[in-house]
Amino acid sequence: MRTVHSLKELRSILRAYRQQGKTIALVPTMGNLHEGHISLVRKATESADIVVTSIFVNPMQFGAGEDLDTYPRTLAEDQDLLAPAGNTLVFAPSVSEIYPEGLANQTKVVVPEVSDGHCGASRPGHFEGVATVVTMLFNMVQPDIAFFGEKDFQQLAVIRKMTRDLMMPIEIVGAPTVREEDGLAKSSRNGYLSGEERRIAPVVHQVLTSVATQVEKGRSDFLSLEQEAKEALTSAGLRPDYFNIVNSLTLKPAAETDKEFTLLVAAFLGTTRLIDNVSVTR
Ligand code: PAF
Repeated sequence: MRTVHSLKELRSILRAYRQQGKTIALVPTMGNLHEGHISLVRKATESADIVVTSIFVNPMQFGAGEDLDTYPRTLAEDQDLLAPAGNTLVFAPSVSEIYPEGLANQTKVVVPEVSDGHCGASRPGHFEGVATVVTMLFNMVQPDIAFFGEKDFQQLAVIRKMTRDLMMPIEIVGAPTVREEDGLAKSSRNGYLSGEERRIAPVVHQVLTSVATQVEKGRSDFLSLEQEAKEALTSAGLRPDYFNIVNSLTLKPAAETDKEFTLLVAAFLGTTRLIDNVSVTR
């Protein structure tokens, strides 16, 4: 497995693969890889000849006061996990490789509607940063297929719409969230949790599954369900940012006649912001 840091080198390696008729999969990440990422890489190896994993902590998707500076950068450990998973190439560019003219004057990609609300409301500019860097990664790697985790449900919806709207010839695959044994969704940010916070964290998934069961059984008083969920999170010691029951396709507030629902949650444990979601059909 090779690691490259420059776009020039990436392009020259991929050009050779393309000339040999090989198909290319991309797994975009910010590094500090865990089993969730590795499950994406394994899936990618089943769908394409060449798997490129990008590792780039994208400053454009972090807001003021967020964890850009402290976000874990663990390239050596990431390489050790990627090689046995069948990854072909790691693309780990510097910030100046991706934004040579700086962030302020960078062309941006805006994906309307699905970027609004939920994380988009709490983290202004976040999805613009994600859509922009993912577009750039798509242009740099020119993959046939790209893999994203369903844990970032709204992000996946944003990327699907962007790919459709901009006629990008890339298949987008979402893969199920990988969880710890106690239900906590795997996330690089779990590493920020203290021992006591880690003990409380599975409550997020417990509340999600308990509300999901009630929606499945037919409860449609979504506003009261959301309120109850936020109270359950608060009494466990979390600070809910939002708990929203939405239509899985539009990400708009759920209606009684909907068939597919997704429960989206973001909550703080101390200074760590955890997100998770569960989908239900009825
Ligand atoms: O999900 C992530 O890790 C990031 O948002 C992504 C898709 C790699 C873009 O920076």
